[in-house]
Amino acid sequence: MILITGGAGFIGANFVLDWLAKTGEPVLNLDKLTYAGNLENLASLEGHTGHVFVQGDIGDGALVASLLAQHRPRAVVNFAAESHVDRSIHGAEDFIQTNIVGTFRLLEAVRAHWSALPGAEQAAFRFLHVSTDEVYGSLAPNEPAFTETHRTEPNSPYSASKAASDHLVRAWHHTHGLPVLTTNCSNNYGPFHFPEKLIPLMIVNALAGKPLPVYGDGQQVRDWLYVGDHCSAIRRVLEAGRVGETYNVGGWNEKPNLEIVHTVCALLDELRPRSDGQPYAQQITFVKDRPGHDRRYAIDARKIERELGWKPAETFESGIRKTVQWYLDHPEWVAHVQSGAYREWVQAQYAAAAPA
Ligand code: NAD
Ligand code: DAU
Repeated sequence: MILITGGAGFIGANFVLDWLAKTGEPVLNLDKLTYAGNLENLASLEGHTGHVFVQGDIGDGALVASLLAQHRPRAVVNFAAESHVDRSIHGAEDFIQTNIVGTFRLLEAVRAHWSALPGAEQAAFRFLHVSTDEVYGSLAPNEPAFTETHRTEPNSPYSASKAASDHLVRAWHHTHGLPVLTTNCSNNYGPFHFPEKLIPLMIVNALAGKPLPVYGDGQQVRDWLYVGDHCSAIRRVLEAGRVGETYNVGGWNEKPNLEIVHTVCALLDELRPRSDGQPYAQQITFVKDRPGHDRRYAIDARKIERELGWKPAETFESGIRKTVQWYLDHPEWVAHVQSGAYREWVQAQYAAAAPA
């Protein structure tokens, strides 16, 4: 079996579902169930003997050690993290604790387990760390996309904490020989995406008749990848990636935020028109910019294509249509995640980001 951390979050849950469907290999899922963790994402696995869920912290070394000893996974895939840039600006403590201290404790527990494994099991073991393109910093409009050798220049508390975790993973390989792999991926979108992030927030706000808050001038550029493609990339890296290497994962889909918001509005106009017949784009509101907002990310994903033959299967047009349709088809999921804690976050964040 494999051990997944953070498997109740957006990408982790998609990965667990995808992994069980594609490989059938059992999954031990360790997740703290923070505000971002949601067992409803895994509801379709109820009664599935190949999925074992444990609520716990990656920073709990004793718990991780006992899980490793009991289940003897052949690999660990580390998704667990605090992942929202805006929250890291409001308060970075949890980001430091989970993304840095938590990763360190996880690495130590895994190293102790791995070093005691018999030869063949030890040789086959892998620790795959899931990271982000944000560790590379921000690009000017005409600069080439980030390659794996781009300097690390994180600009937000979130990306600084992820860069720190990437460095720890690298060091545990270089110094201790732990067989690690790291992936640095661009912005994901798709089912189960928590509606504090751009695309799901725009969908749920549009449907609720609320403003669609675009930071600054909306011309910040992100590279967007359908979450299923991220899952297939991770599977491929785990299967055949070279130990100690980093692989960039991206969709070759650079788009300014305002274009993304207009695309979501146009799809909703088609699939669930407003009762007054007006376009959803009328709800777009420009608000105060995010402090330290990175202007552009772009991923050069040629290494993973060249070495491992991975390419995204989904185009942005097909992926975003599926995603909007998924939210329309799952109003109960949306209603449940919009709990009291979610409402408090939206109130705090968007009251502060009043119209520009
Ligand atoms: P998410 O916030 O939706 O989910 C994170 C999950 O980790 C949640 O289930 C949460 O409960 C769990 N968690 C948090 N702290 C934990 C701890 N201390 N111990 C155990 N579990 C804990 O995040 P996501 O968007 O699914 O991102 C998953 C990973 O992928 C993160 O490492 C993130 O940095 C990385 N990533 C995300 C994107 C993206 O676009 N969302 C892109 C590239 C990389
Ligand atoms: O690039 C990969 C990263 O993508 C991941 O590492 C992060 O975990 C993930 O959250 C995401 O970070 P971003 O900051 O790019 O995602 P977010 O959805 O928060 O914002 C996307 C863009 O949209 C960004 O330029 C900010 C802007 N934005 C966001 C929100 C929530 C708005 O204009 N308005 C909003 O209300």
